[in-house]
Amino acid sequence: MKPVTIKPDVYWIGALHPDLRLFDIIMPTKNGTTYNSYLVKGEQVAIIDTVKDKFSPAFIERIAELTDFNRIAYIVVQHNEMDHSGSLAALLEKAPQAKVICSKPAARYVQNILNRPVQIRSVENGEVIDLGGKSLQFFPSPFIHWPDTMMTYLPEKRLLFTCDLFGAHFCDSHLFNDQITRDTWPDFEHYFRSIMRPFKKSVRNALKKVDELDFDIIAPSHGPILRSGLDKYLQAYQKWSEPLPQNDPRQLLIYYASAYGNTEKMAAEIARGATAAGVTVKVYDTMEISLLDHLDRIEAADAIAIGSPTINGDAVKPVWEFLAGLATLDLKGKIGASFGSMGWSGEAVSFIDQRLANLKLRVIQPGIQATLVPGPEELQKCHEFGAALAQAMLT
Ligand code: FEO
Repeated sequence: MKPVTIKPDVYWIGALHPDLRLFDIIMPTKNGTTYNSYLVKGEQVAIIDTVKDKFSPAFIERIAELTDFNRIAYIVVQHNEMDHSGSLAALLEKAPQAKVICSKPAARYVQNILNRPVQIRSVENGEVIDLGGKSLQFFPSPFIHWPDTMMTYLPEKRLLFTCDLFGAHFCDSHLFNDQITRDTWPDFEHYFRSIMRPFKKSVRNALKKVDELDFDIIAPSHGPILRSGLDKYLQAYQKWSEPLPQNDPRQLLIYYASAYGNTEKMAAEIARGATAAGVTVKVYDTMEISLLDHLDRIEAADAIAIGSPTINGDAVKPVWEFLAGLATLDLKGKIGASFGSMGWSGEAVSFIDQRLANLKLRVIQPGIQATLVPGPEELQKCHEFGAALAQAMLT
């Protein structure tokens, strides 16, 4: 694909990756993705972000169609994740005089990626570089998606480069949102839910900066370049990044897997104990739900209890899959707990507790266990365990 003019003297020089089906080896991308890179021509030339390394040769060819490499004064690294920095080394080989512009936290990542000395200028919020006839203003915006991320503003063209913010994993040979005939919205929303949702506060901070700028194109580093209906995208990000209201009464969600109904009995008794103590409780079998449908309610809950029997010295696979799927949620500070039936060793609860703690939940007491079929005393302990969870939620 040839370079595409975004506005006079501003070009898309990125890469299309239509057959990508799993981004970062975790995120389904049924419509592929693009790695958007941009070239800005003033008296000097700047390149904003690069592309995944396997697309380097075509990327370098696209740049060569637009400029001599010795005119490239700056390479703006908005973010070091290697979907954007993978061709930085190849570009610097062709343009060794170019200075890397990045945020302060990005500087060491640039070194970690290149593993050799390079000219780096790290920029502060609002700092400007003059290209001669054009200028670039930088807005470091940590955690949209990494600590290093920043946005870049080109005031003379009313263009805002937002890196991962406002991105979508969506690939089309047409680059602008008003040229694409397929519905891109589900992928735009999926991207927010998968990439941005753990960083809602950071998104809100970035949106405050965006609000102060005057632009008519948002050029993200993935997917469609947005030049029509911008309000719809901006309002969606405002809405999706809002903090969740506090539950009244407090809400405990219990998820479990149960081979023979024993861990299920424990779940029911924990629920009764917590309900009697004054919180709302909902109980779900992990085998009967889709975690994707539960992400919002989990993020809105005050506490999560997870139950698994111990089989082969471990928690069972559906529970591990469930726990793995919580990685994109902001669960910091919620109460976490575990429970499960066991035969003789009972490792599941401690493994679950560790995972919950790693997800930054507050595990206030070790998980509770019953041996095989929970008897009356064990069920009473489950009841008390539920009540204790509720008490902790209410204090
Ligand atoms: Fe598109 Fe966080 O990299």
